[in-house]
Amino acid sequence: MEVKTSLLDNMIGVGDMVLLEPLNEDSFIMNLRNRFDHNEIYTYIGSVVISMNPYRSLPIYTPQKVEEYRNRNFYELSPHIYALADEAYRSLRDQDKDQCILITGESGAGKTEASKLVMSYVAAVCGKGQEVNKVKEQLLQSNPVLEAFGNAKTMRNDNSSRFGKYMDIEFDFKGDPLGGVISNYLLEKSRVCKQPRGERNFHIFYQLLSGASDDTLMKLKLDRDFSKYNYLSLDSANVNGLDDAASFRTVRNAMQIVGFMEAEVQSVLELVAAVLKLGNIEFKPESRVNGFDESRVKDKNDLKEMCELLGIEQSVLERAFSYRTVEAKMEKMSTTLNVAQAYYARDALAKNLYSRLFSWLVTRINESIKAQAKTRHKVMGVLDIYGFEIFEEGDNSFEQFIINYCNEKLQQIFIELTLREEQEEYIREDIEWTNIEYFNNAVICDLIENNQNGILAMLDEECLRPGTVTDDTFLDKLNTICAEHQHFESRLNKNSKFLTDHSLPHSCFRIQHYAGKVLYRVEGFVDKNNDLLYRDLSQAMYKATHSLMRQLFPEGNPAKVNLKRPPTAGFQFKASVGVLMKNLQTKNPNYIRCIKPNDKKVAHIFTDSLVCHQVRYLGLVENVRVRRAGYAFRQPYESCLERYKMLCKKTWPQWRGPARDGVEVLLTDCSVPTEEFAYGRSKIFIRNPRTLFTLEERRRACLEDLATLIQKIYRGWKSRTHFLLLKKSQVVVAAWYRRYAQQNKYQKIKSATLVMQSFIRGWKARNILRQLKYEKRCKEAVTTIAAYWHGTQVRREYRKFFRANAGKKIYDFTIQRIMQKYFLGLKTTTMSPMDNTWPAKPYGFLEGAHTQLRRIFHLWRCKKYRGQFTEEKKAVYEEKLEASEIFKDKKALYPSSVSQPFKGDYLEIQKNPKYQKLNSAMEEKVLLADLVNKINRANGKGSPRLFLLTKSNFVLADQKTGQVKASVPLPDLASVSVSTQSDGFFALKLKEGSASASKGDFLLSSEHLIEIITKLHRIGTTAADRDQINIDISDEFLVQFKQDKVCVKFIQGGPKNGNSAACKRKNNRLLEVSVPSP
Ligand SMILES: Nc1ncnc2c1ncn2[C@@H]1O[C@H](COP(=O)(O)OP(=O)(O)OP(=O)(O)O)[C@@H](O)[C@H]1O
Ligand SMILES: [Mg+2]
Repeated sequence: MEVKTSLLDNMIGVGDMVLLEPLNEDSFIMNLRNRFDHNEIYTYIGSVVISMNPYRSLPIYTPQKVEEYRNRNFYELSPHIYALADEAYRSLRDQDKDQCILITGESGAGKTEASKLVMSYVAAVCGKGQEVNKVKEQLLQSNPVLEAFGNAKTMRNDNSSRFGKYMDIEFDFKGDPLGGVISNYLLEKSRVCKQPRGERNFHIFYQLLSGASDDTLMKLKLDRDFSKYNYLSLDSANVNGLDDAASFRTVRNAMQIVGFMEAEVQSVLELVAAVLKLGNIEFKPESRVNGFDESRVKDKNDLKEMCELLGIEQSVLERAFSYRTVEAKMEKMSTTLNVAQAYYARDALAKNLYSRLFSWLVTRINESIKAQAKTRHKVMGVLDIYGFEIFEEGDNSFEQFIINYCNEKLQQIFIELTLREEQEEYIREDIEWTNIEYFNNAVICDLIENNQNGILAMLDEECLRPGTVTDDTFLDKLNTICAEHQHFESRLNKNSKFLTDHSLPHSCFRIQHYAGKVLYRVEGFVDKNNDLLYRDLSQAMYKATHSLMRQLFPEGNPAKVNLKRPPTAGFQFKASVGVLMKNLQTKNPNYIRCIKPNDKKVAHIFTDSLVCHQVRYLGLVENVRVRRAGYAFRQPYESCLERYKMLCKKTWPQWRGPARDGVEVLLTDCSVPTEEFAYGRSKIFIRNPRTLFTLEERRRACLEDLATLIQKIYRGWKSRTHFLLLKKSQVVVAAWYRRYAQQNKYQKIKSATLVMQSFIRGWKARNILRQLKYEKRCKEAVTTIAAYWHGTQVRREYRKFFRANAGKKIYDFTIQRIMQKYFLGLKTTTMSPMDNTWPAKPYGFLEGAHTQLRRIFHLWRCKKYRGQFTEEKKAVYEEKLEASEIFKDKKALYPSSVSQPFKGDYLEIQKNPKYQKLNSAMEEKVLLADLVNKINRANGKGSPRLFLLTKSNFVLADQKTGQVKASVPLPDLASVSVSTQSDGFFALKLKEGSASASKGDFLLSSEHLIEIITKLHRIGTTAADRDQINIDISDEFLVQFKQDKVCVKFIQGGPKNGNSAACKRKNNRLLEVSVPSP
């Protein structure tokens, strides 16, 4: 169930001043103080919120609070600025009514803080999303930027807004923010050049010097030391609780979020630096011939740096500080400036530069935050404008006059709108309207703004008038024209009733504002209203190359020389206030009246006199009276019935009819006098707060009774439930206990039974076991006896058979064992046919078998050995065998050839490309190819020849060319002669009469003599068609060379060089071969 709360719950003092009883100034202030002491800084007057500045942070702005106030009715919770913001936002979103939030109060009362609270609340409750959040963030972040440039520490407020601000936040139909527009009003630019004691210049100067990096400062040609700058007041440069360096970072960050480009930020800082530099330019007089002094710049360094920062030609600016061009009747004249005028020009330039920079910033922020969508917007305006300002001792000047004028206008609109709203509500609710008396300040507004004889109009007239115009002539004029006005007071007026009023000095006038009397000093009115900047200066600025200067000083454009005076400051302000008022009138107003509790800017102090003064000039008591003139309290029927239904039996606990009828029944039942209330369409109107309090009192009493009743019923119910619970528990416990006891008993019986059972079973089993064991032993005994008996029987029967066969059996067995051992011993013999070993015979009786076995085994392993021979291997062995038959023991060379394999083709004639031609000339398969030496018979020296042997002939060919020298068919070969020694000489003797014999025999030598001759002999043996070739082995044989026969003789004895045999011709018939001795 939703809990209905009301602002009347837990109320400290009264939350709504309309209910204050009795209503007078004292009780009003007492109520404020009472609430302030209990940290209740917000109080209502109907729908107006009074906000007391707590000067400390209270835990009432948390996200939980936002949630608490979200979508709640205004009077439902205790007074809060969030309630007002919520009300305004909901009626904007749901009822499509444009809203404005007017925040007023004097300097330091908390207007700016209040405006930020409203904005942050709206930002928290409105729609979310990436785009929407960006818009929100930009809107919120515009505050720190504007505060840095437009706020300053004053005596009243460490963060005093020195400009008026009105911000329109635009929403779409869903209530999501789309963007905003900011309007600024009259920056207090005089502060740039001069600050009252104890006050500071605008924050940005201090922030820049404390927070910027060394690098940035160097670029801006600035020094961190405040004391270096004439425009910065030093006595309050550092303010407690203000961290300028941190604020600088916040401002830079905010500028970035709002959408300033890095270059733009730099340009802005350059202008700020330029203003500081400008303040340091000083002048000295220089006498001229005409007797006048002319001003000259004293130290040009600052001027130079400033010109560099702004990109101005130094000489142009220097001249503008010394001369002034006056145009009269199309003629240009140049007059010199004295030192005072030069200082005036310098300050005017600084003020203009800064204030125009400020306006540019506002325009630039507007560019960023303006709504993108072109759809119809709903608007919530937040006005945070400087509050009514009264300085003591008549120190009020033009600025205060303008500020107070603005406040008059706001009061005017307040009166108009509140009364109108009140009136409209009565009409809407069909209640009879009674006229309300109140002070209308329209007459004061008229005194100031009237177009014919208003103070502003006269000031303008004075400023434009030819001839000498001073502040005094202006005051004179005022005295003549406004003398009769009841709110204007001045001493100069001859007929004035104030002639003897010494609190009114001569150079002043006094206006009786709605908020009190304010004494204005006329000094500076004309100047400030004129707001003149010499054209030479604006033209010099226009010429600057700095990116912003042209935008800031458009009037300096020489192409657009405008002789018309620019509108005066007063005129501009009046116009912009007029626009603002028109704008506000179209919107539904919501008021926040800020009050400052003390002058010391500290928490917990409530100065009655100060608050009283503010309450008075804000007309708050009057405001309550107006609100109460008709009916003090109103409430929709539903909530009234909900709140008081317990006062009447018919409406309690539930009224089933329409709410209005219920309220009627209720009020009649409570016997409230009929003149005390009126029935509207949707609301009940209660004339006197006392009536409401009576109702509240009765309600409280009734609530107490109800509470007792509820308590009684609740206690009864609680005891009954407790008893029933106990009873139920007791039954459960008993049941559980019984079950437990039975279980225990059962378990005991069960285990006893088991024990007994097991004993009996054990006894039975042991009996059976004993019986079985006995039977088994009996059986075993019988078997043993039977076995012994059978054994005896069998032994007795078989003894005779055993003795007859035993000898043969043992013999057979022994022989078998011996043979086994013998055969296994033979296993060690190898398989090589060359192996002659054979184990010795172990027993004499094995002799015959032993020799036979050896022979058989040898034959068998030879057969095995032969079996693994291939055909080629066999041929090779046959050849070797043949060689042994021919040469063994006959020629000394033979033994060395045994180990050499017979390769046959030593030249590799098939493969070697060198012998390809020779190979192709051979008709048959070449059996042997080798390099031999053919011995020349003339000198016995050898010349190399290729020797090839086929089945049918041998060929001698040239070693280099491979050309066939001689080819001899084998049948022509008669015999071969070799020596008995280790040389390689051999002679191939041809048959006499054969075709080849004509060339004579061949005497050759070869390293493979044994192989060649064996091969020749083998061919002879295998060929059937010819005779065997004779092989003649002797140390002396004849060789037929052509016609001659020569004897070749072999002698032992080493030749002189080398160890191979050497052949030498001894004479015609003898060739001697000396063979080295072995
Ligand atoms: N609701 C608040 N909670 C805590 N402190 C507050 C609150 N309102 C104001 N203050 C304190 O009071 C100081 C002055 O408030 P603020 O700047 O809003 O005054 P102002 O009315 O805007 O004054 P001015 O007219 O000079 O601009 C703030 O700096 C802050 O310290
Ligand atoms: Mg402010």
